[in-house]
Amino acid sequence: MENNRPEWSSHLSFIVATVGSAVGLGNIWRFPYIMGKNGGAVFLITYILLIAFICIIPLCSELGLGKLYKKDVINTFKSIKPKYAWIGWLCIITVTLIPCFYFVVGGWILNYIWVFLTGNTAHNYADYFNSFSSQIYMPCFLTILFLLMTAIFPFRGVNSGIEKANNLMMPLFVIMLLILAGFALTLPGAKEGLAFMFKPDFSQFNKTMILTALGQALFTLSIGMGTILTYGSYMKENTNIVKSAYTLILCDTFIAVSAGIMIFPIVFSFGTEPSAGVSLAFISMPQMFAQLPCASLFGLIFFVLLFFASITSGISMLETTVSAFIDNLKISRKKATVLTVFIISLISIPASLSFGVLKYFKIFDKTVFDLLDYSTSNIFLPFNTLIICLITGWCIPQFWKKVFGEGFIGGLFNILLKFIVPIILIFVLITGI
Ligand code: PFF
Repeated sequence: MENNRPEWSSHLSFIVATVGSAVGLGNIWRFPYIMGKNGGAVFLITYILLIAFICIIPLCSELGLGKLYKKDVINTFKSIKPKYAWIGWLCIITVTLIPCFYFVVGGWILNYIWVFLTGNTAHNYADYFNSFSSQIYMPCFLTILFLLMTAIFPFRGVNSGIEKANNLMMPLFVIMLLILAGFALTLPGAKEGLAFMFKPDFSQFNKTMILTALGQALFTLSIGMGTILTYGSYMKENTNIVKSAYTLILCDTFIAVSAGIMIFPIVFSFGTEPSAGVSLAFISMPQMFAQLPCASLFGLIFFVLLFFASITSGISMLETTVSAFIDNLKISRKKATVLTVFIISLISIPASLSFGVLKYFKIFDKTVFDLLDYSTSNIFLPFNTLIICLITGWCIPQFWKKVFGEGFIGGLFNILLKFIVPIILIFVLITGI
């Protein structure tokens, strides 16, 4: 059992790990198609404003809680007041449910890596994807394989597992992303793609778009489930929270925008719909790669890139649960990881099957996969974030001074934390439900 809480070996490792958590399928796969569906440039502007002035607040709150209490998410809330332990449990439920659908997509990614590695590419990816994802055994097997590959790192510990994985994979990820984005810019549709991303059409501005942008911002920053709190609890004493939070936001947004620069020129060059949704990564992109010279190579780079992005986020999800199990169930890190893997496998199998045999099994009119995705992103995340803001804003004396510092910025952030962000989140929740 761990007596002393582990600590990142350097400030850079802390930043790389939190960026690794934040940058995931949300940036590469979800951000471009949501942006495509919501009007391009206007969405981007709204998103950047929300992330810089609104989401920064809960992000700093979670980092602050981690730094001040240096505990897992459940004990953090218990330390504020024993009767608040349920908030920690709620975060743990959320962060355990997310990998149950996220890792199904991880399994698909493993399959596509195999396809491009062996050169067994398909002719029609729509048919290919539908027939593959509706199978029983292979997608389940790959989901569990992805889960096990991710679990190796929390199993080995913070420094020798998580830190090493992020320090290796994140630079490779950024290099591959820049190579693909650079290549995309040489395609004939580059101008149109860039115009779609950066030339705003303000007639597209509407309420739904703002809510979608906020939901996406919370998801991409991994806020509202204790992940950032847990990574924050391993930070060094002298870390500046506001600066670290803005660094994280900057890196996350840079990567999301680069993903757009990689995807939209390709989309416009081949005349696909920018709002193609879930199928953008698994049907449209491979279909377009197939028409390029060196198709297998580009396909392989794209899916390895998705793999790195999803595994570093997956590690942070598992670590949040593992850390809470170690401290609350008083078990070793290895046992806590095995228990986490066991719980996630049980739920992720029906999620995977919901593309095939369980297609018509619906709860609240949603398949298991959709229900997990919808309830975590639209209900749990905003709700948990709201509670975290209320607790840090109203129940911990001087929290804002310790985290934001005094002076004008501190005062402004305090008002945002206590009033403005909670009101916006309540509004999001009511609309989401
Ligand atoms: N931020 C990740 C993404 O954008 O893909 C998703 C995520 C990571 C959600 C970690 C939850 C979490 F705990």
